[in-house]
Amino acid sequence: MKNILHAVTGYQEAKKQQQELFKSGTDFSEQKGEVANTIASLHPKRLQLMVSDVIENTLTTKTLRLKAQEGQLPPFQAGQYINLFVTINGVCTARPYAISSAPQSRDFYDLTIKRVEGGFVSNFLLDDVKVDDKLQSTGPMGTFYYNPLYHGNDLVFIAGGSGIAPARSMILNMVKNTLLHKQNLQRMHLIYTSSYEDDVIFKDELMQLEQTHDFLKITWIVTRPNESYSGRTGRLTFADLKALLGEDRQQLQSKMYYVCGTTGFHDHCGELLSKLNVKARRVRIECNGPPKNPQNIPGWPEQVKASDVIEVKVKGQGSFKARVDEPLLNSMERNGYSAENACRSGECSLCRVKILSGSVFNPAEAKLRSTDEAYGWCHSCVAFPTSDIEILL
Ligand code: FES
Repeated sequence: MKNILHAVTGYQEAKKQQQELFKSGTDFSEQKGEVANTIASLHPKRLQLMVSDVIENTLTTKTLRLKAQEGQLPPFQAGQYINLFVTINGVCTARPYAISSAPQSRDFYDLTIKRVEGGFVSNFLLDDVKVDDKLQSTGPMGTFYYNPLYHGNDLVFIAGGSGIAPARSMILNMVKNTLLHKQNLQRMHLIYTSSYEDDVIFKDELMQLEQTHDFLKITWIVTRPNESYSGRTGRLTFADLKALLGEDRQQLQSKMYYVCGTTGFHDHCGELLSKLNVKARRVRIECNGPPKNPQNIPGWPEQVKASDVIEVKVKGQGSFKARVDEPLLNSMERNGYSAENACRSGECSLCRVKILSGSVFNPAEAKLRSTDEAYGWCHSCVAFPTSDIEILL
């Protein structure tokens, strides 16, 4: 062992430093504290933020520019998100939003928020949040980002609506890197689907970037166009994708694909890519919340109707009523209970809750470990109670 350690780069220096510290009576606890502080500043549990600007993007979309109330914001990778905590009419809840600004812009995070019909948090952020308001969030999280070691340099990003947010961050990152290295390190084909022509988020900026940077190619698609619209229209089809990306198997396999949009959009694009024989490991999908209509997902118990109401007992604490088509975490929050959470899409497992009795429906998004499943744990952000249940918090 001694010989092996001596061969490690820096071992001798560290040993010498240790001996010096022993002489002065130091036991490394200060160093441990420094390490812990450095880690906490890079991966803080909570950020105290302030809205420094509200930018109108389209009729349905705004970007909130958030700065740190004090000190610096932690760094992030283009494509990551923060989970924003809010209290609306007494309900404490949170939603994850991808950062749409460049990681090099270290003074602020941009969150691009689109109005959703009946959206509890998004509509609150759009209608009630103003400059100088204070907000709290997690630090940057998530694995939906470009990895230069494994992803290669030929990227395809398929974005639907506000799914453009992480794509914009990646593109701005590529612009800055191109400037820094004086050459393109990657190229990206952005396939960008929007519902309406006047609702294309970042349209002017992206058009300008496409004109000025040859690493970027954009295919614009409008699914519900005006009669006068002359561009590509309708839902993205297999034929579209083949025409846009070609059929050369080797070329298709060498690309890295990122998909971000609604849950239905992910499923659709995932199917198209698999039909195109793209391997699953070449596709990164950013999950975006729980499924909207769980009763339509295969495996949902037939006898349970979406409008059914069940009782949730919280062991030793109380109980409340909830509809079966509402994610457990949402109904818990509405009734004053909580669980730590970040992705709200079944991925991070922070919101685990133990089901003591009764049944819940876990859609495919709930990436449950088999042991969790075996011992009755669920990811409450994407779990739907399908009978009266008792849970342990
Ligand atoms: S909040 Fe991440 S799995 Fe539920």
